[in-house]
Amino acid sequence: MKILITGGAGFIGSTIASACLDVGITPVILDNLSTGRREFTKDRAFYEGDVADAGLVDKVFSDHPDIYGVIHCASLIVVPESMTDPLRYYRENVAKGILFFEHLARNDCQRLLFSSSAAIFQADGERLTVDEDSPLAPGSPYAQTKAMLEKVIADVSAAGQLRSVSLRYFNPIGADPRLRTGLQVLKPTHALGAMIECHHSNSTFTVTGTDFPTKDGSGIRDYVHVWDIAQAHIAALRQFDSVLETEAANSSVIILGSGKGTTVKDLVRIFEKVTGQPLTHAEVPRRPGDQAGAYSGSNKAAKLLGWRPMLTVEQAVQDSLAWHAKRADILGQVA
Ligand SMILES: NC(=O)c1ccc[n+]([C@@H]2O[C@H](COP(=O)([O-])OP(=O)(O)OC[C@H]3O[C@@H](n4cnc5c(N)ncnc54)[C@H](O)[C@@H]3O)[C@@H](O)[C@H]2O)c1
Repeated sequence: MKILITGGAGFIGSTIASACLDVGITPVILDNLSTGRREFTKDRAFYEGDVADAGLVDKVFSDHPDIYGVIHCASLIVVPESMTDPLRYYRENVAKGILFFEHLARNDCQRLLFSSSAAIFQADGERLTVDEDSPLAPGSPYAQTKAMLEKVIADVSAAGQLRSVSLRYFNPIGADPRLRTGLQVLKPTHALGAMIECHHSNSTFTVTGTDFPTKDGSGIRDYVHVWDIAQAHIAALRQFDSVLETEAANSSVIILGSGKGTTVKDLVRIFEKVTGQPLTHAEVPRRPGDQAGAYSGSNKAAKLLGWRPMLTVEQAVQDSLAWHAKRADILGQVA
């Protein structure tokens, strides 16, 4: 089986490509390297350029007429950046996404797996678990772009021009356990990234907000090892036609979560257990816009894909630390 992965030089796309290679699926990567890394495409079929580039997408399909389907990971993903430059996010993610779907339809590529996000759910702290039917209220232009593209994909699929499965990821962390790829950014902004940074610089990690309606008052997330996320894509590729048959529709939406909430304070404890050292941390009030967070209450991925995360948060922390130590060997010291 051969698969086109857009954004395959990024964190998640490159991990999916590695997982594909491990089971004999051939990835073909299309990435404009806006945030992705050329090093992550080594020894893989790679087309450098934009998903909106009609000529390039046509070339990919004429070079690889046996492409079975597409995993569309390409996207800008930084929430604060999307707040200050929303037009860029709507252009890069939505406008270019729509052009890309036209290119897929023209090349008669029918199967689309879309990287969506649990960030599209309403996060008012009233319900800490969500499933596929939970209300949506994207809280940032970034999240809006995901919700908008999901809607476009659903409409295009209903019209029979595509067939699609949108996978709404919760919080991917970790790295390829074989450390071929990992987070390319030097200083990730999520809690685990900040903990690793504090651990290495001997500075204080701040738990922002301790009055959320969670068991210990700190924010809650649903961490999923990125390798498990990659495995879910392989399951979704293999079961693609049967998922849509079960759904009796041309499109489907499936949450990828562990079903277990991990609070920030839980994560501090896990981090300390993995490193064997205390992590200096302080509790501060929540900042404007901070949300309690949520975790998956869905078992649809288990039912339709036969997928459940196999790796623990501990394992993800361990792999993140191992990647952090190896990152410079592959990507150099900067960026
Ligand atoms: N990382 C997360 O926490 C998370 C959570 C939920 C969903 N997602 C989704 O997963 C997908 C992958 O995220 P990631 O964390 O790997 O991000 P990433 O920034 O590492 O990867 C995105 C890749 O897309 C490429 N790209 C961006 N715009 C492009 C374009 N117009 N044409 C071609 N390539 C383009 C970038 O160069 C990069 O390699 C995204 O769609 C994101 O919305 C990520």
